[in-house]
Amino acid sequence: MDICQIATKVISGEQALAAFRVYRTERIFILCDSFLTQSGAIDLLTRQIAPTNQVQVFDDVVPDPNLSGVARAMAAAVDFQPTVLVAFGGGAAIDTAKALVYFASGAHAFSRPPVFIVIPTTSGTGSEMTSFAVITDAEEKRKIALIDDVMYADVAILDPQLTVSVPPAITANTGFDVLTHAIEAYVAKGATDFTDAMACKAVELVLEYLPRCYHYGANLKAREAMSNASNMAGVAFNLGGLGMVHSMAHQLGGMYHVPHGLACALALPAGISYNSHDEKAAAKYADLTYKLGLAPRSLPVPQAVCLLQGVLKALMSDMAMPQRIGELPKGPNRKSYVQTIPAMAAHAMEDRCLPGNPRPVDERTFEDLFASLY
Ligand SMILES: NC(=O)c1ccc[n+]([C@@H]2O[C@H](COP(=O)([O-])OP(=O)(O)OC[C@H]3O[C@@H](n4cnc5c(N)ncnc54)[C@H](O)[C@@H]3O)[C@@H](O)[C@H]2O)c1
Ligand SMILES: [Fe+2]
Repeated sequence: MDICQIATKVISGEQALAAFRVYRTERIFILCDSFLTQSGAIDLLTRQIAPTNQVQVFDDVVPDPNLSGVARAMAAAVDFQPTVLVAFGGGAAIDTAKALVYFASGAHAFSRPPVFIVIPTTSGTGSEMTSFAVITDAEEKRKIALIDDVMYADVAILDPQLTVSVPPAITANTGFDVLTHAIEAYVAKGATDFTDAMACKAVELVLEYLPRCYHYGANLKAREAMSNASNMAGVAFNLGGLGMVHSMAHQLGGMYHVPHGLACALALPAGISYNSHDEKAAAKYADLTYKLGLAPRSLPVPQAVCLLQGVLKALMSDMAMPQRIGELPKGPNRKSYVQTIPAMAAHAMEDRCLPGNPRPVDERTFEDLFASLY
């Protein structure tokens, strides 16, 4: 039995933000990071909100949000008692808002649950479609996934005007988050025909449009396609699951603050190589290359998997992304990295994405794989 339920209404395309014009007498609480207020990006949203509404902007969201950041946001939101709660930003703002919704709902902190609207400004995490929020445990230096249906957004708004300002390096990193969601979901244990359709389309859109977004950031058509890809990949992994690449990426992010999408990009080749020793997973990777027209169906599975790896490597090179931990501009030196491998491997074993992986992984294997990334 397969269940395919999409809880969130998606409004996508130019002028999508105009959806806010219906509000007249609401209490609207907007969460974002300070970059989005200082750069004026928030004006694209607030301009659409009639002055008869009451609006409060909370812009103290931090990257890799931790519990104290969520608590600060929750205190401000509970004090304001919004009727509409808006997450505006990248995954950090969205996950802060989702964790806030999770804890506020448990504590019955809102007199009436607000309508929850998520507006991603990166493409991205797909977090606008998922019941996951990724929170950093600052003490243990690892990321923890909260998973609960209460965190589904009521509405997701994808407006390409919002992502044109994303600089090339962040476009590349966040684009690789999309690609990793889609590829992991495609081979995950929970993959179905429904998630395969979303994942495959997401990879197709990324391969066509991510390089355009990177090289020509103002191209609205390309930005819109990437927002849609991010959203579809979010649906795919929310229903089908992720795997070991995310289990590793969460440790690199928690331990070294490697941006999430870049951490995924660094771990993805190792994940594909490891999983392709599983016959069924290898066939799925190969299937993706056939379906996308990257390889003819006559190409044997191992070569098709190699070709997929080559395409990913070429895409990373084209976008000037580091390909090893040792190439990260502010990354750890080899000695200190090696010292943290046992903790990262142990935490990866406990990561909530791991059960979705198509091939079992043990701690020793994670140690070897983390070592291979330097
Ligand atoms: N909940 C989920 O399902 C899920 C999935 C994947 C990742 N995540 C989490 O999401 C976070 C990563 O999200 P992210 O990659 O969007 O990073 P982010 O939210 O940290 O944003 C990255 C940077 O981009 C800037 N930015 C955002 N929008 C911009 C714009 N329009 N123009 C210019 N700059 C802009 C931000 O200010 C920030 O400096 C991580 O914490 C990760 O663990 C969550
Ligand atoms: Fe991700």
